[in-house]
Parts: sequence; C-alpha cells; structure tokens
Amino acid sequence: MPSLNWIGKEAVVNHDKEVPFKLLKKVKTASVGENSENLIIHGDNLEALKALMPHYAGRVKCIYIDPPYNTGNEAWVYNDKVNSPKIKQWLGKVVGREAEDLTRHDKWLCMMYPRLKLLRDLLAEDGAIFISLDDNEVAALRFLMDEIFGENKFLAQIIVEANRRGQTYKQISKTHEYILCYTKSDDIQLNELSTGGENLNQKDEFGNYFARELRNRNPKFGRHNRPNLFYEIFVDPKQVDGDSNYKLVLNKTKDSIAVIPKNSTGKDSCWRWGRAKLNEAIAFGTRSIFATKTRNGEWRIFEKYRKETVKPKTLWTETEFISEQGTNLLRELDLGEKFQFPKPIKLIERILQIVTNKDSLILDSFAGSGTTGHAVLDLNKEDGGNRKFIMVEMEDAVAKDITAERVKRAIKKYGYKDGFEYCELDKPLFNERGKIEETCDFKQFATYIYFTETQTNIDPKKMAANFIGELHDIEYYLIFNGKDENDLDASFIKKLKPTKNKKVVYADRCLLDDDTLNKYGIVFKQIPYEVKVY
Ligand SMILES: C[S@@+](CC[C@H](N)C(=O)[O-])C[C@H]1O[C@@H](n2cnc3c(N)ncnc32)[C@H](O)[C@@H]1O
Repeated sequence: MPSLNWIGKEAVVNHDKEVPFKLLKKVKTASVGENSENLIIHGDNLEALKALMPHYAGRVKCIYIDPPYNTGNEAWVYNDKVNSPKIKQWLGKVVGREAEDLTRHDKWLCMMYPRLKLLRDLLAEDGAIFISLDDNEVAALRFLMDEIFGENKFLAQIIVEANRRGQTYKQISKTHEYILCYTKSDDIQLNELSTGGENLNQKDEFGNYFARELRNRNPKFGRHNRPNLFYEIFVDPKQVDGDSNYKLVLNKTKDSIAVIPKNSTGKDSCWRWGRAKLNEAIAFGTRSIFATKTRNGEWRIFEKYRKETVKPKTLWTETEFISEQGTNLLRELDLGEKFQFPKPIKLIERILQIVTNKDSLILDSFAGSGTTGHAVLDLNKEDGGNRKFIMVEMEDAVAKDITAERVKRAIKKYGYKDGFEYCELDKPLFNERGKIEETCDFKQFATYIYFTETQTNIDPKKMAANFIGELHDIEYYLIFNGKDENDLDASFIKKLKPTKNKKVVYADRCLLDDDTLNKYGIVFKQIPYEVKVY
C-alpha cells in the first residue's frame, strides 16, 4: 500500500503514547443540569482525548470532526492556517528544529496524525468516523486514514453541496465539500434512511415496491466465502402473473428452470437470503419474490422491497445541508456573528441517523460552535433517543462563550431535556516529581488504574470500597484514602472477596509478609512506581 511521507512524520507517529495523561475538572458554574453524561471539554483535543481514554476507549459509536480545512484563510475566529500559537508551540516541542521548515501541509498532517490515532482507540468496534474537509487536504487525509484505520475500512467519500453559487472568481466554481468516512472494523451495520415512500417506484395490487435483485451484488461475497447462500432457485417458466413476472417454485419440477447467482463476469456469486427465508417468500407468490427473463435469455430473481428506507448515497445535495443554514441557526440563537462557518445541524443529524442508535455516544473533538451537541439533542427530541455527546474545543475565546453557550441557549429555546457538564483539562496525573497529583480523587485514580491494567473501562456500579473491578479472574483493588494512609496491611485482608482469584492491590506500602501475600493470592503494586504510564 502506498503511504504518505512529510516532514515531521517520524516525530508524530507514536506521539499519542507520549501525551501526558491529564485529569478532567468539572466546572459546575458553566454546566447545565446535574450530572449529565454530555460533556464539553475546554482544551487541546490531543490531551482531552487521552484524558477520555480510561472512561470511553472503544465506546464511541460515532465520531464527527470538522478540523481546520487548512485553506490559508487567516481571518477565522480559530486559526485555519494551523498557525495558532498553541499548535505552533506544540509542533515546536514535538517535531523539534525540523518544525521551522514545515509547510502548512506538513503542519496539518503532524497535527492530525496523533489525534486520529486516539480517535481510533476511542471508537467502538461497530463505530464509524466522519470527517468534513475540502480539496485542501482531502487527498492527504485519505492516505492518513488508510494508514491509521486501514485501507479496507474506507466506507465512503461523501460529496456535500455546500453552496449553490460557488466562488464566481474561479474558472470552475467550487460548490462542494467532502465527508470522509471510515469504520473501525467490518462489524458495522449502518441504518438506512427513511424516504417517506419515494424509493418505491413500482406498484402492484398490494401497494408500492422497489424491485431489488436477490443476488448479492457486494463483490466481497460469493460462493467461496458464503457457500450456504449459493444454491439453485427454481422458476416456473409457465406461471406468469398480471405484471409479467414469473413465479418461483419450492422444488425442482419437470419444467422448472434452475437459476444460480452469477456476477457480471460470469463467476459464481451468492444470494442475499438463505433457503429458509426464500421458501417463506415463495409461499406468498409474486407478492414477495419473482423472476424476470432478460432479452438475452438470462433469468434474474427480484425481491419486492416495500420498506420506505434507502441506503445513504454519496452525493448530498439537499438544501438543508447548504453551509448558510449553519449560520442561520446560530443567528436564531443570537450567536450568528460570533462564529464563522458552523456546520448545518441537519448535516450532522443525517450522519447520526446513519450511524447511531438511540443510546449511542457521539464525539466531536473540533467542536467550534457546538453544532454536534445541538444535533444530538435535536435528534433525541425528534425520535425519543437518549444519545450522549462529548465535544472538545481548544480556543479560550470559543469553548465557554460559544460552544457551551450555544448548547445552553439551544436547550432553553427548543426545550431539550438534557444538560451538559463543562470540564477543564486539569493537572497531569503524575506531577513533575513523578508522584500522583494531590487533587486526583479515588474514582479518577481507580478509573485510570483499571484501564491501564485491563485496557477496558471501569464499571463504577461494580466498585465497592477498595474493590475497583475484575476481569478474566483477576480482581483489582486500590488503597488510596489519603496521604500516609495507603498501606496494605492485615486490616485490608478482611476486605478482600473470599475468592480464589488473583488479587492485584495498589497501595503506597505493603506491611504484609510474602507468606500472607501468597496465601491470599495478592500481587502488591506500589504507587506511584508500578502505576503504568499510559
Ligand atoms: C471548523 S471548526 C468546527 C466547526 C464546527 N463543526 C461547527 O459546526 O461549529 C474547527 C474548530 O476546531 C477547533 N480546534 C482546532 N484545533 C483544535 C485542537 N487541537 N483541539 C481542540 N479544538 C481545536 C477550532 O478552535 C475550531 O473551533
């Protein structure tokens, strides 16, 4: 597979591992409601994504990001040339002296690479990531995504008609943007979109339908890997209904014709249905399934598809997706002049409809005016869902006064039921002396410990006193009560579960002898020296 190289790449490919783990601090006065699971985080998303990992690794169903397009337009409220002082400082630190020679494309790639790696780790196995951008970086991002997510995880490159007039000063006026979509694995089932019946372009006495070929047209599948879906279907060439469709029969007869699935090159492919489902459909006659004969004598089998949904397409030209709609909505909230180029809410709702279920978690780590959070609340109101969002915004002038303020105003104006917690990135977990930061509380530390031990997220409901969770017959305990009170001693033995499981116990000191540790299957890990750096 060809890969992309740029100045500074070497310095950033593993940078996600070097980012210090920071704690998150809730800011009650900037939040709405109590203990909402929606989060708005103020901070650089590199650190914020890392901070989210112990809580959300592998749990995010849909990521939508709209990073700087790298157009060179300096006038935006955030700096689109990737020249923002914070990012510049970061590049200088990570890439070193080479950073002075970076072109704007190198810088953008350096900025995106470690962030995309963290986003991939946060994504659920059945999740998908959608990234808005335009011609400036679409080619580069495609290479980057192929490298980080895998070429075979490419889902689509959607074209969105973003404006109707385009740039009249250009020879060819640009009117579109892209949304690049990748999945985490093959284990994903996207939702179809409701059409209100428009897709059903044929009619019989039972209503409208769409004739959908029964042969599986996906070139990935065929007789070789779906042998159960390769079988003969029998057509009765004498039985034709009023619409000239031929009937199928359950078993071979003297006159029946056997049809097998072949792809366009004549190779054996497979059907979409197994035999049992087909037999059920045959019982309903041509109301559900029928055959046609082409002019060159080939037999084809069709399902009468009556569902009012269609697969999403790669060309999105609806008026509600025109960029201006984003600004119009911000104006309704009296924030129209504060943020340029917000995305249209319906564009993000469309993505949510395709990827999410009613209880999915959605992440946007380039939050801007907070359209993603607003879209989540709006869709929940429309379909009774309970989706949750996490948004991250770096700019001081944006996070509280635009991102959070927009969602706050939207909640009030449109009567959304949910709220959000506003968080700041706090101190690193390990202070400069390598000790655990004093403000770190038991739950934060337990979440971190459990994640570094198991690579899975803690279940707070299972935590009890010092017990923080168990996985694969290993129990994990944390003694972290306060300064100088964190000893593993005889009193702790009474708190252990009476099981034969191995018990990993984190504490400052161990006052038990080796025989006792062995007797109870305890493995002592000393804080902070044996706390893994993530
Ligand atoms: C194109 S805007 C997103 C607009 C957003 N989709 C909307 O509808 O309003 C990109 C946003 O990402 C923010 N941003 C850029 N780099 C960031 C970073 N490293 N961490 C967090 N936010 C960042 C910018 O400040 C800007 O607000």
